[in-house]
Formats: sequence, C-alpha cells, structure tokens
Amino acid sequence: MITAGLIRLSAALLWIVGLIDGSDVTQTPLLWKLKDQSATMNCSHNKDASFYQMYWYRQLPGEGMKQIVYTTTIPPFQYESGFSEDKFPAQKNNPQTGSLTVEKLLPEDSGVYFCAVSQHSDTAYFGQGTKLTVLEKDKEITGPSVKVLQPSPKECKNEKDKQRKKTLVCVAKDFYPDHVSVSWEINGQNVTNGVATDEAAQLMPEKKFYQITSRLRVPAKDWENSDNEFKCIVNFFNKTHTVPYTDSIYGEAVTTTNVMTREKYVKITQAAKLTYSVFIAKSCIYGAFVVFLVWKLQGSKGKQNY
Ligand SMILES: *[C@@H]1O[C@H](CO)[C@@H](O)[C@H](O)[C@H]1NC(C)=O
Ligand SMILES: *[C@@H]1O[C@H](CO)[C@@H](O)[C@H](O)[C@H]1NC(C)=O
Ligand SMILES: *[C@@H]1O[C@H](CO)[C@@H](O)[C@H](O)[C@H]1NC(C)=O
Repeated sequence: MITAGLIRLSAALLWIVGLIDGSDVTQTPLLWKLKDQSATMNCSHNKDASFYQMYWYRQLPGEGMKQIVYTTTIPPFQYESGFSEDKFPAQKNNPQTGSLTVEKLLPEDSGVYFCAVSQHSDTAYFGQGTKLTVLEKDKEITGPSVKVLQPSPKECKNEKDKQRKKTLVCVAKDFYPDHVSVSWEINGQNVTNGVATDEAAQLMPEKKFYQITSRLRVPAKDWENSDNEFKCIVNFFNKTHTVPYTDSIYGEAVTTTNVMTREKYVKITQAAKLTYSVFIAKSCIYGAFVVFLVWKLQGSKGKQNY
C-alpha cells in the first residue's frame, strides 16, 4: 500500500508527534505472558471519529520499528509481508478503539508494540507502546548480578594529556527476563553524559539468562580521586515491582601522590600484619632455640656431675 509505505517512511518523524502528543493515544503499557499463550493489547484515543485509521507496529530488541497491519473500521485489514492474520489478528469495531492479538506466543515475540492513529495517513499519532514479555514456562524470574569493573590501567597512559578519559564498565548478568534499564551515579548524582548502554540485553552463551553492559567514560582526574564513588544501578522489573540492583567502586588515586586509596590502605595494613606475624614467629623460634640451648647445657652439666 502506498499510504502504508508513506507512514513507514516517516515513522521517525511521526514518533516525535507521538511523544509530544502521547496522551492522545493510550495503550496497554505492559503484558506478561507465557509461551504458547496469546496476548491482546488495546489501543484507544480521544480524538474525533475522523481518526478511524489504526496502525500497529512492533519493535524487537535492537531492531527498528516494523509495521504489522493497517486497520480501519471497514475491513479487510492490510497486513505487511511477514505478518499473517493468523498470528496477528486485529480488531477495529469503532473509530476510538482497536486491538491487536499475538497468537501462539514465542519468546521471540517479546518486544514493544506500538499503535498509531491517523485521519488522512499524513500525520499519525503514536501511543507509548505495549511492552510484551513472553516467558518460557521452565524459566524462573531472576534478578541480575551487577558488577562495576575498573578502568584498564593501560587506557590512555599519556599523563600529559588533559583530555584523558577513563572507562568504567558495568556488567549485569544472569537475569531473566530482559526487562532492565541501566543508569549511573557519581557520588549519588545521576549522570547521563558519557554513558553508553547496549541497546538490548543479549542472551548469554548458554541461552538461559540475559546480560547487558553499560560504559561510563569520565575525565581521568575524576577517576583518580579516591573520594569519588561510581555506582551502576540496574533496575529490573520482576512482573510486579521494579527492583534496583547496584554495585559501586571508588576512584583510585595515582600512585605517585601521597593520597591513599581504600584498596591500597587495606593492602598496606595487610602487609604490615604479615610482617608483624613473621616477627612474632621469628621470636618464637628464637625463644625455642634458647630453651633448647639451656636444656642442652643443663643436660651436659648433669652428665659432668655424675
Ligand atoms: C482490552 O479491552 C478489552 C475490552 O474492553 C478488555 O476485556 C481487556 O481486558 C483489555 N485488555 C487489556 C490488556 O487491557
Ligand atoms: C536517574 O536517571 C534515570 C534515567 O534517566 C531515571 O530513571 C532516574 O529516575 C534518575 N534518578 C534520579 C535519582 O534522578
Ligand atoms: C518482585 O519484587 C518484590 C519487591 O522486592 C517482591 O516482593 C516480589 O516477591 C518479587 N516478585 C518476584 C516474582 O520475584
């Protein structure tokens, strides 16, 4: 269809209209279903009856938006290639509402489904999307384990360069399903500058759990201040609650200065403890040696006296 093609071409532009004007089009926000079930998502709008055209799109993790079907109050509906009516039956009984069902759900159907309404196919108004999560029956909902990794010491060795940056990496893994968002804080303050997060969580090699990574690039001087705390927050949605999982590390002062980092301090105190223990051990051996000598001397004296 030409109209459908036009809409698809300008989807990026239309998306902006949707964002500004999102309150006009309302969608079911979240749906959690099991594999093989079906999911029906609703869409409604508060515009007048001339907005009787309704489009459905889906965006799979890490992919662009794809149109599924174009519906109006007068069937038949127009399905895009790759999308069948059996799998994606739609309903449009009145100008204000409509629905899309996804039958025989597979985990690969997990993604965000958008509805858009239009009057003349020139401007479409998008809803905020339905995030559909399809759960495998045998997999338990599991929150992530989160770890912040230090910057590599090899990263930008050139000490004179004022533009030096350090990259911290946050790794969240072993979670299921992939309903997460990652953010960073420095000393309790939200940071967005220098943050790059994977577009979508990836299935880990054994295909049971997901993982996602996020990188935070900071000026080297920020990292080299041991008072600075770098925290990674992974918000995991577990079907009912959004639960934060976090990890944090402190900056590390460069070794040429007198500033001591926490880790260094621990290392030095541990080294001191070790030295002390060796000292005590040595004293004991020495003491034993003295006792032995005395005993020997006494023994030989005894023999002499005999
Ligand atoms: C969609 O609308 C129908 C009819 O109003 C309702 O029965 C159903 O519960 C709604 N589904 C969701 C997911 O909101
Ligand atoms: C930090 O930013 C994230 C993402 O932009 C946001 O969801 C969160 O509410 C913010 N937290 C605070 C404490 O401002
Ligand atoms: C989700 O998190 C809440 C709050 O931590 C907890 O009470 C609930 O049991 C969790 N649900 C699942 C399915 O893990």
